[in-house]
Amino acid sequence: MSPAPRSFRIAPSILSADFARLGEEVRAVEAAGADMIHFDVMDNHYVPNLTVGPMVCEAVRPHVSIPIDVHLMVRPVDRIVGDFARAGADIITFHPEASEHVDRTLSLIREAGCKAGLVFNPATPLNWLDHVMDKLDMILLMSVNPGFGGQAFIPGTLPKARQVRARIDAHLAAGGQPISLEIDGGVKVDNIAAIAAAGADTFVAGSAVFGAPDADGGYRGVIQRLRAALAG
Ligand code: DX5
Ligand code: ZN
Repeated sequence: MSPAPRSFRIAPSILSADFARLGEEVRAVEAAGADMIHFDVMDNHYVPNLTVGPMVCEAVRPHVSIPIDVHLMVRPVDRIVGDFARAGADIITFHPEASEHVDRTLSLIREAGCKAGLVFNPATPLNWLDHVMDKLDMILLMSVNPGFGGQAFIPGTLPKARQVRARIDAHLAAGGQPISLEIDGGVKVDNIAAIAAAGADTFVAGSAVFGAPDADGGYRGVIQRLRAALAG
């Protein structure tokens, strides 16, 4: 049986938004056609930058109706999971190196009512997937080293994405649950088609969306160009 056709989701990252106007910014990207809000949480410990926590997630939640995709770049992970679930997160992903007990953390996320995912840095091996496929709703491949927006896409992510796609398709073929494949870092209009061809279905775009010039149609214009590139 061949896998079902993929539908694509665009997830603007708040990291490149104007933090002083965050509510307005997330409303604007939803109105411009975004499918999810990607919410980057950094702790100046697991990654060398510091962003926002559950209070800001809770403040943003009423401004949008699309899912909030919380990307935790924090260590430890477990204590903060419930706070984000209560703050309205729909999806919570974390880096396996940042959790002492990956299986337990995945269970905690699902028990809190959220979808759960693992995030792989560019040099993190995929064997973290070996024993947890049935506990995953999402696999997130970093195509930059985490910590900052606006970095260049690392091309080695493409063969890695093909490997993950093969694992997901094999899991589905064996009767497993669907798992989405998200790519985060350096996603632009000119590389999104190649990333989709490698098997991704969900695309984080921070600087590409929030840095889009008004003269080119602003957020709506760039989201349309990303979708047009996906449509081929
Ligand atoms: C990096 C973050 C990304 C980042 C993407 O650590 O996880 O979500 O904001 O930004 P761009 O699209 O600018 O690479
Ligand atoms: Zn992210």
